[in-house]
Amino acid sequence: ISSVSGANRKRKWKEEEEDEEEQKAEESSDLDTSSDDDEEEENDEENNIMEASDLKENTSAYKGNAKNKIMSQPTIFIPVDRSPEIQEARLKLPILAEEQVVMEAVRENPCVVICGETGSGKTTQVPQFLYEAGYASGGGIIGITEPRRVAAVSMSHRVAKEMNLPTQVVSYQIRYEGNVTSDTKIKFMTDGVLLKEIQKDFLLQRYSVIIIDEAHERSVYTDILIGLLSRIVPLRNKVRHTLPLKLLIMSATLRVEDFTDNQKLFKTPPPVIKVDARQFPVTVHFNKRTPLEDYTGEAFHKTCKIHRMLPPGGILVFLTGQAEVHSLCRRLRNAFPFRKSTEGEEEADTSEAMRKFKKAKQKKTMSLPRIDLDNYSALPVDEGDEDREAGIEDEDDGGSDIDLGDDPTDGETKADPSIPLYVLPLYSLLAPEQQAKVFRPPPPGTRLCVIATNVAETSLTIPGIKYVVDCGRVKKRFYDRVTGVSSFKVTWTSQASANQRAGRAGRTEPGHCYRLYSSAVFGDFSLFSEAEITRRPVEDLVLQMKDLNIEKVVNFPFPTPPSAEALAAAEQLLVSLGALEEPPVKAMQRARLTCPITPLGRAMASFPVAPRYAKMLALGKQQDCLPYVIAVVAAMTVREIFEDLDRPARSEDENSKLTQRRARLAQMRRLWAGQGASLLLGDLMVMLGAVGACEFAGCTPKFCEDNGLRYKAMVEIKRLRGQLTNAVNAVCPEVSVFVDPKMTPPTELQVVCLRQIVLAGLGDHLARRVQAEDILDPKWKNGYKTPLMDDPVFIHPNSALFKTLPDFVVYQEIMETTKMYMRGVSAVEAEWVPQLLPQYCHFGSPLEAPTPWFCSSTGTIRCHRPSTFFRVGWQLPAVEMD
Ligand code: CDP
Ligand code: MG
Repeated sequence: ISSVSGANRKRKWKEEEEDEEEQKAEESSDLDTSSDDDEEEENDEENNIMEASDLKENTSAYKGNAKNKIMSQPTIFIPVDRSPEIQEARLKLPILAEEQVVMEAVRENPCVVICGETGSGKTTQVPQFLYEAGYASGGGIIGITEPRRVAAVSMSHRVAKEMNLPTQVVSYQIRYEGNVTSDTKIKFMTDGVLLKEIQKDFLLQRYSVIIIDEAHERSVYTDILIGLLSRIVPLRNKVRHTLPLKLLIMSATLRVEDFTDNQKLFKTPPPVIKVDARQFPVTVHFNKRTPLEDYTGEAFHKTCKIHRMLPPGGILVFLTGQAEVHSLCRRLRNAFPFRKSTEGEEEADTSEAMRKFKKAKQKKTMSLPRIDLDNYSALPVDEGDEDREAGIEDEDDGGSDIDLGDDPTDGETKADPSIPLYVLPLYSLLAPEQQAKVFRPPPPGTRLCVIATNVAETSLTIPGIKYVVDCGRVKKRFYDRVTGVSSFKVTWTSQASANQRAGRAGRTEPGHCYRLYSSAVFGDFSLFSEAEITRRPVEDLVLQMKDLNIEKVVNFPFPTPPSAEALAAAEQLLVSLGALEEPPVKAMQRARLTCPITPLGRAMASFPVAPRYAKMLALGKQQDCLPYVIAVVAAMTVREIFEDLDRPARSEDENSKLTQRRARLAQMRRLWAGQGASLLLGDLMVMLGAVGACEFAGCTPKFCEDNGLRYKAMVEIKRLRGQLTNAVNAVCPEVSVFVDPKMTPPTELQVVCLRQIVLAGLGDHLARRVQAEDILDPKWKNGYKTPLMDDPVFIHPNSALFKTLPDFVVYQEIMETTKMYMRGVSAVEAEWVPQLLPQYCHFGSPLEAPTPWFCSSTGTIRCHRPSTFFRVGWQLPAVEMD
């Protein structure tokens, strides 16, 4: 990979400059038949984003029906009939002053960057400029991508209203819904939706303009789209008889060098149009102290104070997730009654439910099953997945819905309710009718108070806000480097984001921003939020790109590229999971992996979980295991399903309570783990048991509290199970799995199957117990050897398998606390390893083994085919291979 030097890349660009795209498309660029170094390099250069064959297909298909498309820039003006009030409001927007500049730049350049403060009118007005200039009247439509679903939906409504056009014309498309028709001229969509469309039609022939909105957020899908479009736009403009395609990148910050000063992306830097914002001064007030935990409580007190003491003006509070938003809404509504909350949770008889779940003991089956690696759910030929996004969730949706920890009646001071506070929540997953409320004027005589996630930071502008309360935190997707599993964590935001938030207070008049942290803490914030792509493993991303037929991911023009090592590691993992084809040996030696995606990989790409888990889902239909696999994958993806009872107690009183609850949880863990066969599924069986029991009990807060489960996590698992079930059904309708709320425990036969499925997915997380006779250093006592680590790892005392110490296990992740502990451990049988993970075994003479996959303190695993395994360290039984 390192051989693809900067110079090489530049040469590639030169070549691309030449008007040869069509010929290139006709040529085949078969890397692997070339023996000459230089020649290979040449071919390599031509083998740009797409494979030649894809290009050919796309362009010729287009030529076929290109006759009645316009060939040049639009010259007509399409009148729009706006109401006088709308017209008046528009004229106040800073972007209106730049209309001519923007349109001239668009006419003269294939790509234009527009920077303007939030609220300057980019999202609502630029599509209208383009529409009026005829860009939606020549056979192509105007597409706008948003990283967030809320923005896609609400902006389409807003623009339709401003233009006085029906939603059949100004429409939106998000993952599961949309109102796009054949009359649609302006289409708002999430970035994931456009990514999937590119997969079907690389040249995006339906569009005349693509606007990438909120590019400053640097979401992974937005970044990939910009990379892809940097190639699609020149192609569209070079292939004769085609409609030209314009690209607009819109950002709320001026920091756009990653797009403009990036030779890899755009050889000629696109012009940047800056829109001056009309911003009123905002006075920033820092807290003296920084609450480390209860910032929601702090936000509550601050909001109450503002409402009681300060002049009229809307309040906007930034919190990090849905749960916090609802909790604060409830407290505020309680303190300043205006409307009644109707939430209430039902509780089921938990002991009854538990009994039922444990009772279902099923018939023992003697013949053991073996899962078949080739028996996976694959995409049907015509998948019809228009509405499927590339598995992206909005960042602020990590939290689940209802927060338990907060009792709205916990003796909060009741404020003077003479001016009612009109409290509204705002977050991505909120129903659209609810979201729309924040844009309407509050009822007369009330003060508007919006409790929002960072969706209100740049995507949406709420009118009439004078006070901003900023908790200074943001919920971010966090990627575990060891497992590649994603989760959501609350972290400090960046200075740029905090300033954006403050700016929300100065849209209509001078405002105030109350930061719930000290200026010293602010000083420690990073300047900007870093591009998401650089702080995460990329195997899921590589899989998505391969699903788009981008074979050479390493050559892809990312605005900010992930490291070559991260990309190579990702390809390697995907190859071993069977999602990508084995690279030709020669290409591998040159570290230029160009592995095409397999049918299994396509199926995996459609599941919104990490590829390791996607593999389990793909294999899960065997022996009717799918509902269990879905439940286990959901639990592993959500993580931390048990309450952390090992934390130190804060008081004597709490200590005895904690001890009690620990004992109770330990007992439940044992029950959920079961006995005999099911015990060997280990911690995953415990998760399955917990999910099953909790569902039986109706997933109530009380059941979770009583049994040491995190209620939030269980709600999230429930939601994810539904989502994964839909995804599997979409990929493979004949499986027709459904979420059974009263799932019975798996049979012994199914447990064996589940263990094999888990092994097939977590194959690179295999660990072998070091045998007593091999131990030289006492630190290896009860230790396990893993492929990548020199030090031993251990089974945690809380694990279901702590006492069993199986010879071979797979684990979900490794956590370092007092020791390196494996979490989510399942026992696997040694003889399954060469059957299910042949890619990790070396068959043949042990002396010929290339790089040993497993180097341990005691030896290397190498296997003889066909009948015996070489025994160096690994005590493997002989197995017949066919
Ligand atoms: O995209 P950008 O942040 O530059 O601005 P915008 O979203 O186009 O918003 C321009 C103006 O339209 C703002 O002042 C909003 O208050 C207003 N707007 C509105 O009143 N109702 C909406 N649903 C959306 C925007
Ligand atoms: Mg905008």
